[in-house]
Amino acid sequence: MDKEKKIARYQRLQTQLAGLLDKTCDPLARMATIAALLFHKFDYFFWCGFYRLVQGELVIGPYQGPLACQVLAKGKGVCWAGVKGEKTIIVPDVRQFPDHIACDSRSLSEIVVPYRDGSGNVAGVLDVDSDCLAQFDGTDARQLEMIVAWLRVNTIAGEIKGKKS
Ligand code: SME
Repeated sequence: MDKEKKIARYQRLQTQLAGLLDKTCDPLARMATIAALLFHKFDYFFWCGFYRLVQGELVIGPYQGPLACQVLAKGKGVCWAGVKGEKTIIVPDVRQFPDHIACDSRSLSEIVVPYRDGSGNVAGVLDVDSDCLAQFDGTDARQLEMIVAWLRVNTIAGEIKGKKS
């Protein structure tokens, strides 16, 4: 997909999300909505979903696509690398990534985007796989980073804030 078309599609998606994600501050509800919208809007997204830090483990959250690993081996793979490095990771060819975890052998390229909670701590990652090589670039990174910023709420604080506004 050329850059202009990709940016325009993300911008339309951002507008849709703004109209959908104001219904609740609940992170799981927002993850489910983000995963569903992303998966159905980008045909090069083979798998799209979240892994959440739960008591020191990366545990599956809302996702779209083929069955995925429920808990990721501690410290291994792209998602843990994103959590540890606290930055987006683009993998043009997953077969070249050391200890990549293949939940589905059809995945060939990947992007992992850490998200933060309301206190600014990394709380997990958005993980997107494609079944084609080198599908993700800086545009996907910047746009997905803006999208996961919707998760930067503390559930309780977010709901209290939401009720007051
Ligand atoms: N490939 C990821 C694991 C998650 S599956 O892609 C959904 C990793 O190496 O961390």
